[in-house]
Amino acid sequence: MTPPLLAQLSDPHIEVGPGDRGSAEALAAAVAAVLALRPLPDAVVITGDVANGGAAAEYERAHELLAPLTMPVHMLPGNHDDRDGLRERFAVPGDGPLQYVAQVGDLRLVVCDTQRPGEDGGALDDGRLDWIEAQLDADVPTVLAMHHPPVAIGLPVLDAIGIAEPERTALGELLARSPQVRRVIAGHVHRSAFGTIGGCGVFACASTHLQAPLEIGSPELRLIEEPSAIALHVGLDGGLVSHVQPL
Ligand SMILES: [Fe+2]
Ligand SMILES: [Fe+2]
Repeated sequence: MTPPLLAQLSDPHIEVGPGDRGSAEALAAAVAAVLALRPLPDAVVITGDVANGGAAAEYERAHELLAPLTMPVHMLPGNHDDRDGLRERFAVPGDGPLQYVAQVGDLRLVVCDTQRPGEDGGALDDGRLDWIEAQLDADVPTVLAMHHPPVAIGLPVLDAIGIAEPERTALGELLARSPQVRRVIAGHVHRSAFGTIGGCGVFACASTHLQAPLEIGSPELRLIEEPSAIALHVGLDGGLVSHVQPL
């Protein structure tokens, strides 16, 4: 039997108009890379910053570019997104924080909303942590997906717009008592990076489009045309292995 396969794309930053530096072509290439995988993934999660400016035309373009995907596609908001615009175009039910639970084979995917509307930094306040905890079941291997990684990555400009203490610590405490959470998967930092919190692995996926250069400690944020990547998370023997597939 094929293990559960969850593909991850992140931060497409779709732009429509003269300022665009190739975001649509880049997302199309990532979609083609997902469709070239064998076996095909059971689902795809896109970990936020779907649109660069949160405009309806950008969501429309993203929707067209994602249409070739034949499996369920799970969306969540990043700091660049308009939560309502994303929810409306991709028909995500509910209101308030855009968060929900999906099943990917034997894996439970808990899609979290870390957006702090109007700000670039993320939030995991008490209400959201309580919501996450309520979605967990001790017997079900789970992946938590969110935009902002709940760890520092050593790039100060990005760490300054991450999830602040004490919310990171509070999530770490929840994860330390929730070993069924096999991984936290995120985006936002425009690099493939890995850390841990509360004994749980945290994986950040590269952007489908522009990357943050690997300049540890740099006070500047630049985005450059470095090779992109997608990820494939594979549920194996009750655990999870996360592969990075460069494009
Ligand atoms: Fe981003
Ligand atoms: Fe972001």
